Amino acid sequence: MSTNTTDNQQKVTTLRVAQMKQRGEKIAMMTAYDYTMATLVDQAGMDLILVGDSAANVMAGYGSTLPITLDQMIYHAQCVTRAVRRCMVVVDMPFGTCSGNSDVALASAIRIMKESGAEAVKIEGGEEMIDCISRIVAAGIPVMGHLGLTPQSVNQFGSYGLRAKGEAEAEKLKRDARLLQQAGCFAVVLEKIPAALAAEVSRSLTIPTIGIGAGVGCDGQVLVVQDALGMNQGFSPKFLRKYADLATTIKTSLGQYIADVKSENFPSASECY
Ligand code: KIV
Repeated sequence: MSTNTTDNQQKVTTLRVAQMKQRGEKIAMMTAYDYTMATLVDQAGMDLILVGDSAANVMAGYGSTLPITLDQMIYHAQCVTRAVRRCMVVVDMPFGTCSGNSDVALASAIRIMKESGAEAVKIEGGEEMIDCISRIVAAGIPVMGHLGLTPQSVNQFGSYGLRAKGEAEAEKLKRDARLLQQAGCFAVVLEKIPAALAAEVSRSLTIPTIGIGAGVGCDGQVLVVQDALGMNQGFSPKFLRKYADLATTIKTSLGQYIADVKSENFPSASECY
């Protein structure tokens, strides 16, 4: 059957992502950080996998994304690329790799690409990152931008609250988005900004926007996979839709296993050699 959606078997590339924006096909992105989850995300038909530095929170238990290292990001990215057949894999440049020195940024991006086999990097920030982004793009590495709530700057913002509510910050975000596009970014994440602003930015750019807490006017959406699958019971921001309640499923299943072990109901005769 012929549909207007991307061929489910064909590898997703920057070219396909650009074509999806052109024909108004929404882009589905989800994070993953390990082989087993990435296999499922890929097989589900996701377009892009983000190996986000949110691994610092959901995999390592840190309170922010700042502590995760380049080596740790590369490790997570390697686990994901080993699993993936179809998704395009984008890897976050961790905090500190793009702060002021574009030599460090370029060397870090090259390490991510060479050592993980991923297909793009993501960089948080606008105008102040243009030098780094331009050099990385010039080296042949696709870059996804990230504006709005940029968690690596949480200490500057003072909270994980909504960004660009006021006119001055909204104007800066619009200008940053244009600069990212001019610098060669193939897409840009818009995190936790008013939906009307995100829709305006999405209409004004030729590259796709991927929203998280930024409304349906974005060209695509991204969520952290543990959040979307309800594995993290303590985290329920307004923008999050939970597509499963895996925390309950996992705890109930493990409780059943414990009961079976204690009662000698497991293993049964058919589960022995
Ligand atoms: O690290 C991450 O998971 C992200 C997404 C929330 C966009 O940057």
